[in-house]
Amino acid sequence: MSTIPSLAQLLADGLDDSGKVRHGFPVVLTVSPASFHFDRDGNLIPAANMDEQRDHLAARLAADLIAQTHFPVAFPTETVYGLGANAFHSEAVKNVFAAKGRPSDNPLIVHTSDIAMTASLTANSSVPAIYNPIIDQHWPGPLTLLLPKSASIPHTVTAGHESVAVRMPSHPVARAIIFLSKKPIAAPSANTSTRPSPTRAEHVAQDLAGRILLLIDGGPCEGGIESTVLDGLRIPPAILRPGGVTVEMVRAVDGFQNTVVWKKNADDSNDPDVSAPVTPGMKYKHYAPKVPVVLFEKSSSSSQSTLASRKRDAMEARIQTYLPSSSASASLPSSPRVVGILRTETQSDFEFASIFPSLKVVQQSLGSSYAQVGSNLFSALRDFEAIEGCFVVFVEGVEEVDEGLAVMNRVRKAAADIVYV
Ligand code: TXA
Ligand code: MG
Repeated sequence: MSTIPSLAQLLADGLDDSGKVRHGFPVVLTVSPASFHFDRDGNLIPAANMDEQRDHLAARLAADLIAQTHFPVAFPTETVYGLGANAFHSEAVKNVFAAKGRPSDNPLIVHTSDIAMTASLTANSSVPAIYNPIIDQHWPGPLTLLLPKSASIPHTVTAGHESVAVRMPSHPVARAIIFLSKKPIAAPSANTSTRPSPTRAEHVAQDLAGRILLLIDGGPCEGGIESTVLDGLRIPPAILRPGGVTVEMVRAVDGFQNTVVWKKNADDSNDPDVSAPVTPGMKYKHYAPKVPVVLFEKSSSSSQSTLASRKRDAMEARIQTYLPSSSASASLPSSPRVVGILRTETQSDFEFASIFPSLKVVQQSLGSSYAQVGSNLFSALRDFEAIEGCFVVFVEGVEEVDEGLAVMNRVRKAAADIVYV
């Protein structure tokens, strides 16, 4: 178990003479989410033993870095890892954008640990009444709400928008860091822009090594897919990004029965039943691993009975398309050529016996429920890009119900190619 440096020591060791983060950083501190307990008002209950004390110290260091400096910290939430900075500190927020390479016109979600902190972010220091029932049911949790923005939030956070996106995470480590810092924390996902979101600390390290001072490792994120972004200020309310709280769950809440889902790209938003609200993040390339992803989706008219064999045939054809030419692979004589397949609805492996004798097909099931598929998706994409010789990853689609809606939203963005079967 690594010892926990003081804030002064971390800054002295981690920064070079020009104030830049040194190679070899971040310091990674592993904590157990079970070390953090909260009372009914959301206050962190003091540590009860030495293990808890040590984990509280790690959370305290993260909180102090956020509250007292302008260096961002990566920490787990129940959806994905976030890269956080004091939302009221414009310089700190700029450093989050810089570490991720994120375009400055894509606004950040602000994370809070109680309603008073949430209200402090809004124009009238109060949360619009429409949100009360949904906050009661789904906060803390993977639900982000658009609120009228207080003038005190820097434009860097909201990229000039009049609303601010806020959520109260349920992950004990995230809650503890916000509580201890006493600051609302602006935090996008802790990946490099355009890469799959990080669901494990090692994913954060892959992307942000040498760019951040501190990474709190609280184990894998259970949700695996980012929060639902909900705009309840418009009529009807609109889901701008599907996520952990499903549209079915949102529509079950008083005042949100007519919620629409914005699921088109900005340029094909002429669907009559969608008023085309725009969440700025949607226009960027997203979630793409280094290996091309091909999505196999069932087209709405096609029959279910021969679906698995149609998928198999379509996959075989795409292997041909993506197979590196022999001249390109001649320079890499020893590396096997690998096709990755992520299954969702088909129970057993697709059969490719003997079509490409030199090819290896590595297949993996993402899980037996859509929640599991969501939980494993980003991590599996990163696993495949690490397999030597892997030149394409095939992903089997899911129905757009429950967590399946968010899964398909992410896979379509990650995909270089979509094949309808
Ligand atoms: O689960 C999550 O939401 C994770 C964890 C770390 O909390 N965070 C996350 O942040 O996914 P990020 O920055 O990767 O995605 C934020 C999304 C983007 O699509 C962004 O455009 C949208 O929220 N957003 C933020 N502020 C907005 C605003 N004022 N109006 C509309 N959309 C906004
Ligand atoms: Mg993101």
